[in-house]
Amino acid sequence: METIHVDLGERSYPIYIQPSALQQLSILVQRHQLGRQAALITDENVERLYGDQALISLRSTGMRTTLISVPAGEGQKSLATMDLIFEQLIDAGLDRTSTVIALGGGVIGDLAGFVAATYLRGINLVQVPTTLMAQVDSSIGGKTGVNHRLGKNLIGAFYQPKFVLIDPLLLQTLPEREFWSGFSEVMKYGLIRDAEFFSTLEETTLDRSLLQDTEMLSNVIESCCEIKAAITARDEKETDLRRILNFGHTIGHALEAVSQFELRHGEAVAWGMMAAAWLSHTKDYLEPNEMERIIRMLGKIPKPIIADYDSQVILDYIYRDKKVKNEKLHFVLLKQLGEAFICPHLSESDLRHALRYLQDFSPSRR
Ligand SMILES: NC(=O)c1ccc[n+]([C@@H]2O[C@H](COP(=O)([O-])OP(=O)(O)OC[C@H]3O[C@@H](n4cnc5c(N)ncnc54)[C@H](O)[C@@H]3O)[C@@H](O)[C@H]2O)c1
Ligand SMILES: [Zn+2]
Repeated sequence: METIHVDLGERSYPIYIQPSALQQLSILVQRHQLGRQAALITDENVERLYGDQALISLRSTGMRTTLISVPAGEGQKSLATMDLIFEQLIDAGLDRTSTVIALGGGVIGDLAGFVAATYLRGINLVQVPTTLMAQVDSSIGGKTGVNHRLGKNLIGAFYQPKFVLIDPLLLQTLPEREFWSGFSEVMKYGLIRDAEFFSTLEETTLDRSLLQDTEMLSNVIESCCEIKAAITARDEKETDLRRILNFGHTIGHALEAVSQFELRHGEAVAWGMMAAAWLSHTKDYLEPNEMERIIRMLGKIPKPIIADYDSQVILDYIYRDKKVKNEKLHFVLLKQLGEAFICPHLSESDLRHALRYLQDFSPSRR
């Protein structure tokens, strides 16, 4: 099985990637000596598709497994849902040697991850991501948490899993919109860190046939995991280097919020990356031909248009969000394709221009 190591001293862990890897879940749980009892936490869509397969695998090796399934959607990333999950963990008698297995997209990974981080001050966690977004991004790196009514991801912890199990075959059932939203993060890795990988993506036919091309997808996922693993290993708690992973996310998060989550995360980030590429160029870092290549590729991510959103509302969101987190506006730009850096001196007027650039981007040019 293809294995990538996330090197974090005592908290190091492997990422296993292989089609049909889900069938190996119980064997790996045993090999990692993760106790005799587990809670399989998932959402109702994923339960319907893969719940039995995972449960049968776990129970076949004698693992006492409690299935906890929550409705699908961002709304479940809440303290209220955590409370309901804790009740079931306590009822089922999970102890400090037990394991939480997060089977789902980023919502389940973040929620179940934070449950594992806090139940009995922390029990074993295994991530089994089932969306492209989760397979290339959210399941790796140890960020877990839930939303608060006053903002997204405000409550959480850094908590690393014992291992991550990625089965690219699971993506075959993913709704197309979710797939392309995740693909936006795939492009991000090329942009910030690996120009060659980006060129490979440029040469790939980006249509729905890709969803069924498991071999190609496995390679793509592997490249992304390698990049995220390397960045996380050098900067676990996001002090410096890891911030480049936020490329496109300052404007992206704001668009997501202003659209009231009408935009999927990756769609909003694709717009955000377009703005960041444009800013990188207008600030004289990025060559015009590289900017054009980037805009062309990001244009291939299908996404709702954003022309109707009020720039001032978007800007207000950005500055309020930074204030809540006591962060300066450190904007991630590109020096060149494949090399990101933190630019500390962008003004509100720079951002306003970038938003205008996005909003002038007519659907016919996408
Ligand atoms: N922790 C991190 O580092 C990190 C990074 C990026 C995003 N996130 C978080 O991830 C969340 C978004 O994750 P997401 O995009 O995976 O969304 P999601 O978890 O909501 O999943 C999207 C939809 O796909 C369904 N689904 C999942 N797997 C499926 C499959 N194999 N087949 C069919 N349907 C399937 C789900 O039920 C859901 O309806 C956000 O909350 C975001 O904040 C966290
Ligand atoms: Zn993201």
